Amino acid sequence: MIQIVNLKKTFGDKKVLRGVNLEIMDGATTVIIGPSGCGKTVLLKHIVGLIRPDEGKVMIDGVNISNLYGTSLFKVREHISVVFQGGALLDSLSVSNNITLGLRKHTKLREPELSKIVKEKLEMVKLGGTEKLMPSELSGGMKKRVAIARAIATNPKYILYDEPTTGLDPITANKIDKLICNLQQKLKITAIVVTHDLTSAYNIGDTIAMLREGEIIFEGTPKEIRNCEEQKVKEFVRGRDI
Ligand SMILES: Nc1ncnc2c1ncn2[C@@H]1O[C@H](COP(=O)(O)OP(=O)(O)O)[C@@H](O)[C@H]1O
Ligand SMILES: [Mg+2]
Repeated sequence: MIQIVNLKKTFGDKKVLRGVNLEIMDGATTVIIGPSGCGKTVLLKHIVGLIRPDEGKVMIDGVNISNLYGTSLFKVREHISVVFQGGALLDSLSVSNNITLGLRKHTKLREPELSKIVKEKLEMVKLGGTEKLMPSELSGGMKKRVAIARAIATNPKYILYDEPTTGLDPITANKIDKLICNLQQKLKITAIVVTHDLTSAYNIGDTIAMLREGEIIFEGTPKEIRNCEEQKVKEFVRGRDI
């Protein structure tokens, strides 16, 4: 389980996180929603230890990762995969080599085993047979799928998605939502999705947490957020709902 406790972070004079408290339940998908610039990516980076808090902590399976450095931090990170906003594929590497990047670094798996994993993961994201393609030959949705295949290649316990549908057309965005749901059901990976896309949040979230003004101001099911009478929650939901 991931527990975020009283997390605070200020950049210069900008208080981005003002005491975030959130528990991420295992085996489910938690969506963290909030307007652009509210600190979603900053929060996500704290969860993988890429940013250190000014105050508070992130506990992953009982370990406070905010105090970990070096090897002990990498050990915890081995169980967490992140799908960054742009997909972050390396343009000079084929689809296959992008997917095996982490595996080559952290395991001693050999070519036949690596190929088998690539094939299996590509089929899971419905991109079977694209091993040899280069990122420049892929559409935005396909790039996102490859980034997801790479994320699941290491069999993580946790998968974090940063704005997985941003920049995609609505049909492709919907397909990515479905993929995220399918993978969650098949692989039972605990997923955290940060997004400003409310439609996507409704589609995939078991729990939705709303980040506003540096705090989690609401936590509940998609149905509960729709019916919430709290002014700040309503403003965001009504402004974006379609
Ligand atoms: N490394 C950094 N240094 C200074 N300011 C930052 C840094 N990272 C993020 N910020 C600021 O924190 C705020 C929240 O950013 P971010 O988490 O990226 O928002 P979003 O909710 O859109 O993901 C923004 O005002 C951004 O400029
Ligand atoms: Mg962001």
